[in-house]
Amino acid sequence: MGVESSCDETGIGFVRDGVLLGESLASSIEEHVRFGGVVPEIAARAHVQAMVPTMRTALDDAGLAWHEVGAVAVTAGPGLATALHVGVAAAKAAALALGVPLYGVHHLAGHAAADTLVHGPLPERSIVLIVSGGHTSLLAVDDLVRTPIRHLSDTLDDAAGEAFDKVARLLGLPYPGGPSVDLAARSGDRDAVRFTRPLTGSRDPALGFSFSGLKSAVARYLAAPRDPGISTEDVAASFQEAVADTVTRKAVLACQLEGVDTLVIVGGVAANSRIRALAEERCAAAGIELRVPPPRLCTDNGAMIAAIGDLLVREGARPSSSSIGARSSVPLELARIGE
Ligand code: KG4
Ligand code: ZN
Repeated sequence: MGVESSCDETGIGFVRDGVLLGESLASSIEEHVRFGGVVPEIAARAHVQAMVPTMRTALDDAGLAWHEVGAVAVTAGPGLATALHVGVAAAKAAALALGVPLYGVHHLAGHAAADTLVHGPLPERSIVLIVSGGHTSLLAVDDLVRTPIRHLSDTLDDAAGEAFDKVARLLGLPYPGGPSVDLAARSGDRDAVRFTRPLTGSRDPALGFSFSGLKSAVARYLAAPRDPGISTEDVAASFQEAVADTVTRKAVLACQLEGVDTLVIVGGVAANSRIRALAEERCAAAGIELRVPPPRLCTDNGAMIAAIGDLLVREGARPSSSSIGARSSVPLELARIGE
């Protein structure tokens, strides 16, 4: 059983031998809309309320009974501390009651593992582009649970999802921003405004990411007198194009620099339609195999945590100690968290 509660989604999933047996997801997103962002205390209370019912519906979906659960994995970090604590406490209670091992896992390793549920085990070497609300990184991955994960680059400031959320607010589009921008961009012209591609100059780090300058460029564009012929949808499409162009270009370059022929794109922003389309185009042209999970498995869910837990169990990894706590910011090096 995988338990996810790092942000505003309460996710429970069941995975056995790399196969997703069933899952359930509850979201408190509606309660955050009027604040324009996730309010940690509200998210935590919603997790407390949703946790047991979500476990029950996921068990039903999987056609399992409690006594058939062999191990419990839980997101121990990174994420909102108050939200993480709910999942960790619930997972501990379940593991204790069932007498099964508990695994604290890294949320981002879970995002990467989500892809294995649809495309099977990762090859010996792959480049993983993580684009989420809190992180944007290029990772060199050999084995998700056996070998330490090497960071080729991490964003210098905002994450890609954060940029989508902030730009959506600037454009007056509803929270969460990513899906709103994606939707608006469908009827916009992506060439309407040429926003600068961040960190793509000859002196910039080739694989570096930075999105706060791009967000400011959109803010400046909107503050200046503008061509009445350019709509909100055009600006959304142009901003989205700048992000998609930058992340896909750098991800393909990372594969080439590392001599790796598989690219995996995961995290909430991997649900973005333009990033998916452009990545497909560019990977095909470069002879790189592209793996992107379906959108539902890109955004936070319990199945991805069950997937990484299942990999740890099958690898014979040591369970985490029963005194494990939540860690709101912990760099991704190993999939397993805790002593
Ligand atoms: O991975 P995730 O569900 O949560 C974190 O771990 O952060 O990612 C959430 C982020 C949010 O910033 C959201 O706006 C963004 O993913 N997102 C998208 C799309 N769907 C979700 N961004 C762009 N296009 C989308 N379709
Ligand atoms: Zn996430």
